[in-house]
Amino acid sequence: MTTEHGRRLRLGMVGGGHGAFIGAVHRTAARLDDCYELVAGALASTPERALESGRDILKPGARNYSTFEQMVLAESSREDRIDVVSIVTPNDAHHKVAKAFLQAGIHVICDKPLTTDVSQAHELERVAKERGRVFVVTYNYSGYPLVRQAREMVAAGDLGELRLVHVEYLQGWLTERLEDTDNKQARWRTDPARSGPGGCLGDIATHAFHLAGFVSGVTPERISARLDTFVPGRRLDDNVNIRMRYASGAQGTLWASQVAPGHENDLHLRIYGSRGSLSWRQEEPNRLRFTRHGEVPRLYTRAGPALGGAANHATRIPGGHPEGYLEAFAQLYKDAAALIHARNESLDPPATALLAPTVREGAAGVEFIAAAIDSHRADAEWTSLLAGDSR
Ligand SMILES: NC(=O)c1ccc[n+]([C@@H]2O[C@H](COP(=O)([O-])OP(=O)(O)OC[C@H]3O[C@@H](n4cnc5c(N)ncnc54)[C@H](O)[C@@H]3O)[C@@H](O)[C@H]2O)c1
Repeated sequence: MTTEHGRRLRLGMVGGGHGAFIGAVHRTAARLDDCYELVAGALASTPERALESGRDILKPGARNYSTFEQMVLAESSREDRIDVVSIVTPNDAHHKVAKAFLQAGIHVICDKPLTTDVSQAHELERVAKERGRVFVVTYNYSGYPLVRQAREMVAAGDLGELRLVHVEYLQGWLTERLEDTDNKQARWRTDPARSGPGGCLGDIATHAFHLAGFVSGVTPERISARLDTFVPGRRLDDNVNIRMRYASGAQGTLWASQVAPGHENDLHLRIYGSRGSLSWRQEEPNRLRFTRHGEVPRLYTRAGPALGGAANHATRIPGGHPEGYLEAFAQLYKDAAALIHARNESLDPPATALLAPTVREGAAGVEFIAAAIDSHRADAEWTSLLAGDSR
């Protein structure tokens, strides 16, 4: 039992079998605040590997399924069926898995990018709404306390009028043809049939795009994109340069790369306004730099003085003990649990939980990918990003 919500939510997982990356992160994130119990899974893409993975990874007594189809069917008819499913497969399976569980009345937590095309993303938005299910998309960088602090400061007007948004997400791991090795993460990420039409664009530029929007509170109206594929023979982009124009007249730039040697997960956001600026870097996530124009820079630290409610809600241990990726990921699980309990009990969700990215943000990420590809193909033509256009 949890003190906060009465009982742990019953969680199922699709994907995340032996050798998978993000499934294990989701499992840790789900345990951290003790809001969930993993009771079922269809953990891999073939029945044999799914059952084998489930035998090792799931607890004794958990329901170990050979396919997600079998899992939806069996879970739907149980009294103690799962409350929520985590979808941690490669991108091409997100849509069919999410749709099946939503239709069975089960809440969804899904990794990004939400789908491999815009119409599928819009369909998931529609089905989630029709079924009244919670749908959280794990744009996990929005779970960091100091990212939430930055958002609160922008919203409070601490930067003045927004002028410039600059966001980078740099990695070096695909500098050579890793997809020719047995690295399965590199293989599917460079295969359009599994990754979707974006390479670096869908994998990490979408994170940068979401983070910039989450903190600045605004989405660009138009973007101009240039996508490069530097590694010979690679079938998807591995480097992304995007200019962004906001309705207010503010400007932005987004650079994402997976061919930048020397960088690991170097996500860096800088925002400049008429009165000051903010800078936050995921490789030093417990610090946020704020400079009021003409003054000495201030360093906000996680759990330190002068933080607002959103940052304090997302922090667990005293300052100086580093929190990081897993805790930020766990924050989205904690927020999702609060949203699900509120939905199940027909209560208003707590305001803090409403910061968790939803299926709308997931779909906006897919619209961003489509707009960037359209723009690139038209020689970096300025292209609309507005939701619900005909794309
Ligand atoms: N939020 C983040 O920071 C973050 C980080 C890494 C990956 N991701 C996203 O997470 C997803 C998975 O990425 P990964 O790197 O863990 O991939 P991975 O290749 O390491 O793992 C994918 C797992 O899904 C399983 N799988 C594939 N199809 C399946 C199906 N139909 N049914 C059940 N299982 C199936 C595979 O067998 C494997 O176990 C991707 O969408 C990726 O974009 C997000």
